[in-house]
Amino acid sequence: MRKKKIVVLTGAGISAESGLSTFRDSGGLWEGHNVMDVASPEGWRRNRKLVLEFYNQRRRQLRNAVPNAAHTELVRLEEKYDVTVITQNVDDLHERAGSSSIIHLHGELNKSQSTADPDLIYDLEGEDISIGDKCELGSQLRPFIVWFGELVPKMEEAVMETLKAEIFIVIGTSLVVYPAAGLVAYTGNEIPRYLIDPSEPELNLSYSNLTHIKSKATSGTKELVDRLMK
Ligand code: APR
Repeated sequence: MRKKKIVVLTGAGISAESGLSTFRDSGGLWEGHNVMDVASPEGWRRNRKLVLEFYNQRRRQLRNAVPNAAHTELVRLEEKYDVTVITQNVDDLHERAGSSSIIHLHGELNKSQSTADPDLIYDLEGEDISIGDKCELGSQLRPFIVWFGELVPKMEEAVMETLKAEIFIVIGTSLVVYPAAGLVAYTGNEIPRYLIDPSEPELNLSYSNLTHIKSKATSGTKELVDRLMK
């Protein structure tokens, strides 16, 4: 029997209970840095060493983090549904939890990218990137992260998946960063939409057919998955 299609859009909030900090809860600073200093091409041009060290720190921190119940509940959902996770997160917690279909809109922390050819992507296995680490073309490696102002190459793929959703779930994103936040608009009013977040994201809550589960990702996702698995 064909499994119904569920698309899940996740953000930093789903990894908060794994100990990874969100972006806008901490007063606009990301681990003490102005986001534009460490997550923009201008920041990279200004100070490559600072940017490389920033992501090296994030990567080391990620090694000590583990998927939480929200990540694992989304895997349980796959027993009954065809689930695609579209995430804005650069951590690998969805992978480590066992999700089988994941689209990373903003890149991946455990990978590096050539600065000469953006199609050259390398696995880091959690290692650092240092000044002098070069791609096969001899250019400096950079973090495989989509920075502010850069294109989101996987957006079209994410839209195509979202258009197929029969149920749409949003977990732990403030929905203020586009184009990712725009995915919600590709879901029709005729399908059930759920929002799991302890606060009020920037969503025009007048969307019909939208249920806001006002709780943390771990408890809220378990509650929703229990309901959907019945
Ligand atoms: N459970 C669920 N949601 C939570 C939790 C939690 N335990 N803690 C915080 N949240 C919610 C917040 O209420 C907020 O709505 O998670 C959301 C986090 O929002 P942001 O910090 O803005 O993170 P995100 O939406 O993922 O940011 C999008 O912005 O900085 C860029 O590229 C970066 O991917 C990132 C993008």
